[in-house]
Amino acid sequence: MSQFDAAFDLEDKTAYVAWRRDKLAHSPRAGEVPVLGVVDLSQPAESEKTAILAQISESNFAIYQAKNYSESEDEVGAELRRFSEFFGLRIAEAHRSAGKNGVVALKVSLAEHQRGFIPYSRKAMNWHTDGYYNSEADTIRAFVLHCVRQADIGGQSQIIDNEIAYIRLRDAAPEAVALLMDPQAMTIPESPEADGSVRPVSIGPVFFIEDGKLIMRYTARTRSISWKNEATRKAAALLQELLEGERDYLHTLTLQPGQGILNNNTLHNRTAFDPNADTGSSQRMLYRIRFHNRL
Ligand SMILES: [Fe+2]
Repeated sequence: MSQFDAAFDLEDKTAYVAWRRDKLAHSPRAGEVPVLGVVDLSQPAESEKTAILAQISESNFAIYQAKNYSESEDEVGAELRRFSEFFGLRIAEAHRSAGKNGVVALKVSLAEHQRGFIPYSRKAMNWHTDGYYNSEADTIRAFVLHCVRQADIGGQSQIIDNEIAYIRLRDAAPEAVALLMDPQAMTIPESPEADGSVRPVSIGPVFFIEDGKLIMRYTARTRSISWKNEATRKAAALLQELLEGERDYLHTLTLQPGQGILNNNTLHNRTAFDPNADTGSSQRMLYRIRFHNRL
């Protein structure tokens, strides 16, 4: 058993305490995450890569600012794929809305297949990890989110490292962690997809450990979700309360053009944006590529 497997073993308090101390000491606090410069996303320099990897090893995400950047979906997509590959991200998901390079353009969309889906609206999105509704075989372990154009108002992101969320919950109620690690903890019923197909039911844990790494599958949604039982639902509600109460390790940012977040599918949310814009007229445009492997 690796030291990390032991840290996530609810029976092994000693390993957990040591890992927790180290984690909290090295994790950046709110407002402390640097924006790391990258001149050319398709060819990051050694020093740029080293800085990004060091940041990811501390917090599971890094924020970069590309010096040169394009607005064309094809060009940005190709750049983001190359950039991600330098960090080992090679297995991009075949998302239904994805174009070439596995890129999904997140923008307000009135296209029939996207209308009514929150990611393509101006609405806020509550805490979640990406692809929480996927099957186990399609687990999302990392993604890159890259800004081409920001909204005029709002569109702010918040991020909490999954390991910090785990620590908060385990400190508050270790039994809640156990409930959320149950392979039947969370069920997302089947539902119609943006492309008209039907996504099958997804049943799985909120927290699971894989190769000594913590992976999360979480959504704060309360509709179209069911928990194994009332105790599990309460454990999830406690987790949500802790996320909402987090201050020390809560990272807030509004991505600027050319900026992005490279991350191990960490918890995130976003605020609503451009409330007064005519429907569909917000210029906000983010590109996202999700991966099945991790950084
Ligand atoms: Fe997301």
